[in-house]
Amino acid sequence: MEMKQRCWLVAEDPAAAEQLEAKIDSIGWKVRRLSPPLFSSRLEEDRECGVGLVLLDGMADARLAQLEAMLLESHCPWMVVAADDAVEDASRRQLVATLCHAVVAPTIDLAELDCLMRHALPLSLLRSGDSRPCHREAALSADMAEYEMVGTSPVMRSLFQVIRKVAAVEAPILIGGESGTGKELTAQAIHERSPRASSSFHAINCGALPDHLIQSELFGHEKGAFTGAVHRKIGRIEAADGGTLFLDEIGDLPLELQVNLLRFLETQSIQRVGGLEEIRVDVRIIAATHVDLEAAIEEGRFREDLYHRLNVLHVRVPALREHPDDIEVMARYFFDRFSGEKSARLKGFSREALVVMRQYAWPGNIRELINRIRRAMVMCEKRLIQPRDLGIERRKIVRHSMTLDQARERAEREALVAALERNESRVRPAARELGVSHVTIYRLMEKHDISHPGVEAEG
Ligand SMILES: Nc1ncnc2c1ncn2[C@@H]1O[C@H](COP(=O)(O)OP(=O)(O)OP(=O)(O)O)[C@@H](O)[C@H]1O
Ligand SMILES: [Mg+2]
Repeated sequence: MEMKQRCWLVAEDPAAAEQLEAKIDSIGWKVRRLSPPLFSSRLEEDRECGVGLVLLDGMADARLAQLEAMLLESHCPWMVVAADDAVEDASRRQLVATLCHAVVAPTIDLAELDCLMRHALPLSLLRSGDSRPCHREAALSADMAEYEMVGTSPVMRSLFQVIRKVAAVEAPILIGGESGTGKELTAQAIHERSPRASSSFHAINCGALPDHLIQSELFGHEKGAFTGAVHRKIGRIEAADGGTLFLDEIGDLPLELQVNLLRFLETQSIQRVGGLEEIRVDVRIIAATHVDLEAAIEEGRFREDLYHRLNVLHVRVPALREHPDDIEVMARYFFDRFSGEKSARLKGFSREALVVMRQYAWPGNIRELINRIRRAMVMCEKRLIQPRDLGIERRKIVRHSMTLDQARERAEREALVAALERNESRVRPAARELGVSHVTIYRLMEKHDISHPGVEAEG
């Protein structure tokens, strides 16, 4: 006598489970019913089950996390019985899309289901012996170079709006923001949307050049200008003629060179080291800093006149913790971007991983997010990335602590940005919506350093 093949059946509602069990039994399968609570350890109850069936209709939302955790641990292919509208909800759709083998309509065609389950059976054997290639470890160090900016939160949309606006004007720009927030990407985005887009974008890190080289690097030198100057050298400013020059970490520029740069900004011309000729150069300067330049001015490390020259237009790139709504969008974007480096088995992020990513403070901002995701994609042994793959397990989360005053300030800023965003930066409608006067809106925009066509330009 032929042994019956075994399958799991998971259903919340006992009556529905009973009905379904009778049907599956009638086509020759032995059913092992799993009724909630669903723990992955329960899969040990019957190691002979090679395939599973979940009745998603009627399953409570609160049960989904348990279900996800259990499917994740299972080597079986799982079929889902669900009506089309039962997977309209985003989290159900994600669960089905990433963890299930097939979807079956509730008006089950038994012959078709039998065929599906039999075809899926060998997969469970293959999966239990699954091993992953390890050469992907090497991919960790490769750099990324696209200019695409991701973000759908009001904070990011307002940044995109500022980028479009400042791109159209010719004045210098100063970009501020913490490390890894996207200052260089913002500078590139501005260049690409500017009338100079067809010319080149040159980037110099002012902190990375030794003091004795930086002058000739920026301004060039004539042959014989100093020992070792055997040829004429064209400096970076001159080389960027017609395009955009991005001066990164401007706060690190030595004081003597700050004078030269100021002179260039005032006259639009340079002199090469050892040369007398005034050379006109048509370059748009975008500078960036992660340090507080006003404090550097107080301490005598940065020239105030240069600061005002550079800060004609100011763009502030927000820290990642200021727009947590973007974390999931960005995480999925980077996941897709690196998908060439992952195993075919890895399908995405677990719910738990998405929750901890949202709670984490991201001191290294988007750069840290990219590195953690990339690493997780290499290290993950499961089908969905877990918090431990990201190195941010729940108990390790250091919540970004803030005082009540700071929390109020943050909420005020967010409400203001969102109202301006909804009203396309028109102050009066935004003021009406927030129940304050337009004068108050202008005051708050200044207080929170929020750009607006009327207040962006300082000089
Ligand atoms: N909005 C975004 N969408 C997608 N990727 C982004 C976004 N912002 C930044 N990145 C990526 O994050 C990384 C860090 O960005 P970037 O180098 O521009 O930051 P930064 O502020 O200049 O950092 P640092 O202060 O350390 O120089 C880059 O790989 C960049 O491509
Ligand atoms: Mg940078």
